[in-house]
Amino acid sequence: MPSPGSRTLRDHAGQQLRSLCEELGLEDVAEGGVRLLHDLLGSVGSRPIAEPVLWPSFDVDDHTPVEFSLAFDRGGSPTLRVLVEHIAPEATAHKNLLAARRLTERLAQRYQLPLDRFEAIEDLFLPDEPQGRFSLWHAVVLRPDGQHEFKVYFNPAVRGAKRAPDLIAQAFERLGLGHAYDTIVAHAFRQESTSDTFVFFALDLRPEPHCRVKVYVAHERARVTDIERAACAARGVLPGVAKDFCQLAGGSRVAFTRRPLVSCYAFVASDGDVPSGYTLYLPIRDYVPDDAVARDRATALLKRHGADPSVLDRALKIIAGRPLDAGVGLISYVSLRMGQLQPGMTAYLSSEAYGMTPKPPGRPS
Ligand code: TRP
Repeated sequence: MPSPGSRTLRDHAGQQLRSLCEELGLEDVAEGGVRLLHDLLGSVGSRPIAEPVLWPSFDVDDHTPVEFSLAFDRGGSPTLRVLVEHIAPEATAHKNLLAARRLTERLAQRYQLPLDRFEAIEDLFLPDEPQGRFSLWHAVVLRPDGQHEFKVYFNPAVRGAKRAPDLIAQAFERLGLGHAYDTIVAHAFRQESTSDTFVFFALDLRPEPHCRVKVYVAHERARVTDIERAACAARGVLPGVAKDFCQLAGGSRVAFTRRPLVSCYAFVASDGDVPSGYTLYLPIRDYVPDDAVARDRATALLKRHGADPSVLDRALKIIAGRPLDAGVGLISYVSLRMGQLQPGMTAYLSSEAYGMTPKPPGRPS
């Protein structure tokens, strides 16, 4: 056991991951998963967490570059995923981008991941002088058989926010989804409004036909009706499901005026211009007084969507280094996957290596 002062980010997040694996029936891949996490973190992993943050990662509120998520498929067992920002030892936007690009190459070699789609669009999203809050994130879905799945996330604002729509349109075009852009703009963007913005563009590093292309749109000050409209762009989304989710997670609000709700459209190659998946992300930490309330709402949502909520409690016990009602943000988002691609619910858990957001005084639930 390292002494508290020398405990590194690797120790902290690695221990959380190992315990989560054991809890979720992934004990066979726990050690390999922890080693993979070390690789994803890079040299920043060996910094003691008592030292100042090297790079203010946008991944998690306290700038820890690690977010865990538990994805519950309808009726199935939960899946563990980890999102990591790879940070270069010299930590500049440019060096982080280069280091994350090299990491992509190493992962592709080690796990035989196809990079053809990544290479088709990388010059759009990986410029020499990246702007914005990040340039390239990696996520891994840990599978019990060790056949882990990898995803990469690009930042549409990496050449400045104004260029984002153009980058997205070009990326779709190059990936053979030329009309996808128009579908999204028609459903997810409110007219005459600058309140809807592209925030992520993601690729599964998997061979066809499972490989998804995903685009994320944040909706400032969205009303539930805006979300219903955004959701129905995808094949097989039932009316009212997104609304019900917003109401349960948001405590019956009709408008979300703090951190924005986010729509994600997922396309597979055969989709043409109509996505087969839609996911709604709700930043629950902004709409609850503390994590105890977030936990209660997430539990109610899991029950509603046919999943076993006790897993979430066990995961929270592992992650939380504090009582749930002492802060807010441990559960950062809850999301609902709708449409034809694996419907289900996901809870996002911050690693909180560096600290936590204290409970805001007097915030009503
Ligand atoms: N922490 C960032 C945010 O809150 C990025 C992020 C992490 C995010 N996980 C996410 C955004 C899930 C949307 C959905 O925006």
